[in-house]
Amino acid sequence: MDIDQHYSDHMEETSLLDQLHQRYPDGPTLYQLAPIDQLHIGGIKASEKLLQQLELIQPGRILEIGSGAGGLMRMIRSQCSAEIIGIDITHRFNALNSAITRLTRIPASPVITCDAQQLPFTNNSFDCIIFQHSLLNIPDTARCLQECHRVLDNEGSLLLHEVLEGPDPQRMHYPVPWARSADQSHLISYTALYELLQASGFQLKRAENWSEEALQWRQRQAEKEKEKKTEAPQISPSQILGEDFNKMGPNVIANLTEGAVEVWQLSCIAKG
Ligand SMILES: C[S@@+](CC[C@H](N)C(=O)[O-])C[C@H]1O[C@@H](n2cnc3c(N)ncnc32)[C@H](O)[C@@H]1O
Repeated sequence: MDIDQHYSDHMEETSLLDQLHQRYPDGPTLYQLAPIDQLHIGGIKASEKLLQQLELIQPGRILEIGSGAGGLMRMIRSQCSAEIIGIDITHRFNALNSAITRLTRIPASPVITCDAQQLPFTNNSFDCIIFQHSLLNIPDTARCLQECHRVLDNEGSLLLHEVLEGPDPQRMHYPVPWARSADQSHLISYTALYELLQASGFQLKRAENWSEEALQWRQRQAEKEKEKKTEAPQISPSQILGEDFNKMGPNVIANLTEGAVEVWQLSCIAKG
């Protein structure tokens, strides 16, 4: 199964948009959207931490790779003066991203359907590139990082908030939110990523292991999801990922607990 099918096949965008419109006639807030547009471990809190990194960098032209339903893009657009472009290989995600933005008061930003392994931009087009749980789906990490280096300015920033392979990758449980089976998941280890970053012309400035926080967040979400089963239907990641989401959440907890995966935030600078 292609990766865009993994994200598209169960997407209920029409009913989701109707539900958002009915529930929030004045427009949903970033927090109200978070269950369906912050599709990474750590949710909106993790995106807030990424924004703190952006405040230190103060970029002017940002590219987000694998922008999904657009949660981080809307946060950046509403809180920073930078221009931002999103790209995603899943066309229906891009359509949903733009449709959600139209429900809010946040100005629209361009989103382009393309593959991160072949970026449709000229050299030195951006001063910052962000990945949030999207490198994990990309088969050729080296090529993708080389493309990032090409379209980034010299001294431009690369921010990664990613799931990496843990010390016990053989203990991996599927499905997970980014893959129904191993052929869709392209996790690499911290050491392998470090080497690829260096080989692609990036200097690592900062690396933080966010796994413990990620696990606690996922455990809190699981508690909330149990409570919500007894209430009126809420917006939920299952409207994007389908009923398999009920297995994906527990599998993320198992994979973090058993050391199959880790969650990291890395900040790098493009050299030369
Ligand atoms: C786990 S989702 C994360 C979405 C979003 N960053 C978030 O945190 O909510 C991974 C995203 O990467 C996109 N993606 C996967 N492979 C890609 C590729 N080769 N090029 C561009 N986008 C890709 C998927 O379509 C999906 O939107």
